[in-house]
Amino acid sequence: APSGPLLGRHVVVTSGPTHEPIDPVRYIANRSSGAQGAAIAAALRDLGARVSFVTGPAVVPPPAGVQVIRVETAAEMRAAVEAALPADAAVMAAAVADWRVVNAAGQKMKKDGSDRPPTLEMTENPDILAWVSRAERRPLLVVGFAAETDDVVANAVAKRQRKGCDWIVANDVSPDSGVMGGADNTAILVSENNVEHWPRLPKAEVGRRLAERIAARLAEIAG
Ligand code: C5P
Repeated sequence: APSGPLLGRHVVVTSGPTHEPIDPVRYIANRSSGAQGAAIAAALRDLGARVSFVTGPAVVPPPAGVQVIRVETAAEMRAAVEAALPADAAVMAAAVADWRVVNAAGQKMKKDGSDRPPTLEMTENPDILAWVSRAERRPLLVVGFAAETDDVVANAVAKRQRKGCDWIVANDVSPDSGVMGGADNTAILVSENNVEHWPRLPKAEVGRRLAERIAARLAEIAG
């Protein structure tokens, strides 16, 4: 029979990159593999949670035993998160594109013989983490991520406040860190009163630690 400290809890997890179309065959993307999000979802599942896993087009497949909601764009991801609420907790591990193309073409763009390449006009995407942190049906515990290449802690502390989430899991994604697409992660858990440095760990272990912390925190605040 299912058991675990998260039994009866619902957690929404976002994961992977988003794809922002330029035209029907081209898109803007990023190097997120979705590995850390998948590991977190699996760990939450293992502690008994019902998991809604909202994933962009990731390299790493979604774990078994979670409800998978596949999306492509940031706008679709925001709508899917909203549709998945209410939830006890939300973990926003997706690498959401900051911008999308305003004038995405309905047909494949062609070299038209003139020597002018097209110009892409961009506009800001919805910030899903900031939105869910202030939503009417805000989950009790909202966890965001901060992929930084410099001043990791200072940026994460500022980001936690700006986004309105409870915790930020910060990590160094400098090219020489090997985190993006790699097997390990060196995470820093930033909460209201605490900055906790975790050692370099496999992403599965980061997922387990985070899931355990979420279970403990929900037991405190949700009873
Ligand atoms: O602002 P930045 O992209 O560095 O913030 C990262 C955090 O915000 C991650 O938790 C990410 O999933 C979330 N985010 C989001 N929607 C966006 C941009 C970021 O949910 N449009």
